[in-house]
Amino acid sequence: MTVNEIKNLKGRRKITMLTAYDYPMAELVDRAGIDMILVGDSLANVVLGLDSTTKVGMAEMLHHTKAVRRGVKNSLLIADMPYNSYQLDPGESVKNAQRFLNEAGAQAVKVEWFEQCLEVTGKIIKAGIPVMGHIGLTPQTADKIGGFKVQGREAKAARILIEQAIELEKQGCFAIVLECVPDKIAALITGKIKIPTIGIGAGAYCDGQVLVINDMLGLFARHTPKFVKKYADLSPLILKAVEDFKNEVTQVKFPDSQYSFSIKEEELKKIEALEIKQDGN
Ligand code: KIV
Repeated sequence: MTVNEIKNLKGRRKITMLTAYDYPMAELVDRAGIDMILVGDSLANVVLGLDSTTKVGMAEMLHHTKAVRRGVKNSLLIADMPYNSYQLDPGESVKNAQRFLNEAGAQAVKVEWFEQCLEVTGKIIKAGIPVMGHIGLTPQTADKIGGFKVQGREAKAARILIEQAIELEKQGCFAIVLECVPDKIAALITGKIKIPTIGIGAGAYCDGQVLVINDMLGLFARHTPKFVKKYADLSPLILKAVEDFKNEVTQVKFPDSQYSFSIKEEELKKIEALEIKQDGN
């Protein structure tokens, strides 16, 4: 999948995107035919056990993007630019974006809206790096937008979101994530721009949908937002498997002969006949 193919899907069929953070999950998501895989900075919460996406940096994001790259054959691979990798200095933001492509094999980066977003996005795109925008609830700057809540519920705030989307399209973004936006506002935005909108908590009118994979598989118990549909509930399955292992080991039921290697009786006798010194000499 290429950036242009994603753009061309608008109006033709709905676009699918999921996050992945490691090789085995990326391999499955790719094999299922998902259009785009995002190595999200949600890594912080759902994989690393941190309480904020602002707590992961370039090192962690590059490390996980490299692992995901090894599992992806067909999907478009996008890396989330972590907090402070693009907010502090526009020049530095281009270098950091380049690292995701050159070192980790991503095909595009995602940046969340912030005050200098247009300047930074423009610079990254001019350097030849495809950028996905992200507006609405932007977790990296949640403290500046009133916390983790639906954005654009009042006319003035909704208008700002629409303007942000139009400006990001003008800068050359190939798609925009809309997070926690009323469905009718997402519909308005989707109708006003020619690039695809990818919704998360933004209703059915977006051009595509994204979810955090650990949320939709029931692998993150700490918090499940309203917009998350659990397509599987894997935590109880994993817990049961781990408890079964514990019980079988302590009850000497595992491993039985099916899971062990054997040796011929005659070879064993020879070994028993050998004089083996305890100190290894
Ligand atoms: O980090 C992430 O997983 C994201 C998605 C919610 C779009 O940005």
